[in-house]
Amino acid sequence: MGPSSATARRFSRVTGTGSYLPPKRVTNDALAAQLARSGIETSDEWIVERTGIRARHFADDDAACSDLAVAAARGALSAAGCDARDIDLLIVATSTPDMVFPSTACIVQDKLGANGCTAFDLQAVCSGFVYALSVADSMIRAGSATRALVIGAEIFSRLLDFSDRSTCVLFGDGAGAVVLEASDEPGIVASELHADGRHVGVLCVPGTVSAGHIAGDPLLKMDGQAVFKLAVGVLEDVARSVLAKAGRTDRQIDWLIPHQANIRIMLGTARKLNLPAERMIVTVDEHGNTSAASIPLALDQAVRAGRIKRGDTVLLEGVGGGFTWGAVLLDM
Ligand code: UT7
Repeated sequence: MGPSSATARRFSRVTGTGSYLPPKRVTNDALAAQLARSGIETSDEWIVERTGIRARHFADDDAACSDLAVAAARGALSAAGCDARDIDLLIVATSTPDMVFPSTACIVQDKLGANGCTAFDLQAVCSGFVYALSVADSMIRAGSATRALVIGAEIFSRLLDFSDRSTCVLFGDGAGAVVLEASDEPGIVASELHADGRHVGVLCVPGTVSAGHIAGDPLLKMDGQAVFKLAVGVLEDVARSVLAKAGRTDRQIDWLIPHQANIRIMLGTARKLNLPAERMIVTVDEHGNTSAASIPLALDQAVRAGRIKRGDTVLLEGVGGGFTWGAVLLDM
């Protein structure tokens, strides 16, 4: 006898992925040459050795975050074989919205023609996509949504201080998206989200808009070593606790997709989880740190390259400003 509708459990599963990178690719050498014109010294060698980054993409001045989000969303909708009108929940994880308000999600909704569905932005900086995926999963399992579009989209280049070599070489622009649909079986097996506001100051853009002016400094500030230490500490813990919640072990992870910020942090996490480096998806070399876009970008590229396949177990891990961190374990 099959489960009755009263006892049938409801899960969510990823049915399509998409991503978008702005066409302008900037190599370390090109960026170093640009910075040298302002008397700032850096090199491809330093950037590769400390971070693993070789290039990043920068959006043109006339591009909006919503444009990147829409391009990624169209890819995910097409892969899932559904239309924007079939979406009943749209979440955009971003720290670089088009406007102070309304949300970038509302702008994306209109550009896609998904008008009428629930739409909101989620702000958890580089953990934003993991947060948004977990929230969408909860809403689907609770029955308040059936088919969600979850997007991470950023134009971080607009926040960069190009006179600060310790931060401006690290970030890039891009977007990634997934369609997440109600399903009889997981899908998302477990997720966990955390924040610790004591560390607001280690990674922030302290400016805001006030009385028609920018109040404070609207450019990114980071204490790189403090962020490094915090990230290394939390990523293993959250991976272990999400695995425990799912009743699984690290041997059951087929693919690790950590937030793509620094190859040294990523390799350290893989090592602690006893995962060979080949089982980790790496895009930081070509994308830099795209904040909330980094995980869905990496996921989509790995799916489209035929590396991540249906049935594979994937661990997504986000970490960033707030301080925020979290993980989602999913069966594709
Ligand atoms: O998305 C949120 C997550 N963010 C992160 O995960 C970032 C975490 N932190 C990091 O990835 C690393 O801390 C950085 C890559 C930001 C910095 O690497 P580091 O090994 O911690 O370098 P450092 O800050 O200790 O700096 C070492 C040296 C310094 O020179 P001195 O004082 O030793 O003479 C810096 O001035 O490297 C210098 N430096 C640079 N040199 C050339 C800093 N930036 C650059 C640069 N090019 N771009």
